[in-house]
Amino acid sequence: MDSNPEDKPVLVIGGTGKTGRRIVKRLRDHHIPVRVGSRKENPSFNWEDRTTWESALRGTKSAYISYYPDLAVENAAKDIADFSAIARKNGVNRLVLLSGRGEEEAQNAENMLIKSGVEWTIIRCSWFCQNFSEGFLLDQINHGEVSLPIGDVKEPFIDAEDIADVAFAALTEQGHEGKLYEMTGSSSISFEEATNKIAGAIGKDIKYNHISIEKFEEMLKKDQTPRVYIDFLIELFTQVFDGRNTNSEVGVQEALGHKPRSFDDYVRATAESGIWTIQNA
Ligand SMILES: NC(=O)c1ccc[n+]([C@@H]2O[C@H](COP(=O)([O-])OP(=O)(O)OC[C@H]3O[C@@H](n4cnc5c(N)ncnc54)[C@H](OP(=O)(O)O)[C@@H]3O)[C@@H](O)[C@H]2O)c1
Repeated sequence: MDSNPEDKPVLVIGGTGKTGRRIVKRLRDHHIPVRVGSRKENPSFNWEDRTTWESALRGTKSAYISYYPDLAVENAAKDIADFSAIARKNGVNRLVLLSGRGEEEAQNAENMLIKSGVEWTIIRCSWFCQNFSEGFLLDQINHGEVSLPIGDVKEPFIDAEDIADVAFAALTEQGHEGKLYEMTGSSSISFEEATNKIAGAIGKDIKYNHISIEKFEEMLKKDQTPRVYIDFLIELFTQVFDGRNTNSEVGVQEALGHKPRSFDDYVRATAESGIWTIQNA
């Protein structure tokens, strides 16, 4: 006898990351069975080891896909095509893909999903606010100095809480199939403005330095950042941050019927969490 589809878990790839863990929480809060896709779980899931893909997918009803390190890297589109085919073969009936804006390889990966024959939703996002508190900028913030190869280009940072709300809706409700949600915050600010807002909220000095790409690469190497991630960040900062993504879009409103959280909302909530522990002399 077939098991009740309601008993089958939702697979959340990247379920320990910025968006995935928020989606896992929402599913668990609603008593929906979840399988966390992570290298540390059993069954484990590793993008670099294809033998783990099928065991992670087997017996699940739908999946959220957060690729690593980024859908913009070479091979991402092929990985998404192959992963979707395995999902389809295993009877997974819905895939929700996290994507990025203005990146050719990411858009190729989206097309692979669209062509896969599985019910799909694409959540194409701007830069996450949480890069300042859970990503590689946290250390810089806590050392009181943010150094990036970006000048005045503005970005409509999106809150990972909004991404999780939309992903949760797409995984659990009807009406999001075949939709591509272009998701940003409602207004754009520069990285220096973002840094100043964080500094203001915690009452500390944080200096913003606009550095050269060469100096940035040197800094990443010194921090022993993996080469693949360095290459991705260099491409991101030399090509994608050219102003193409400055406009804001209405994906959150379309999917949820309300406005996204603002950068100020994010800063207020994060400052209260105590994660920014910068100690000025
Ligand atoms: N950050 C942004 O601003 C932004 C904006 C738009 C789109 N995106 C997209 O979001 C995705 C995630 O990016 P993120 O930087 O925010 O990371 P994140 O979600 O914080 O990523 C870390 C996650 O990746 C998993 N992971 C790392 N290596 C893995 C591997 N080899 N196989 C399977 N899982 C692996 C980790 O799981 P374990 O360590 O538990 O295995 C963890 O759950 C990317 O596809 C990116 O294109 C990010």
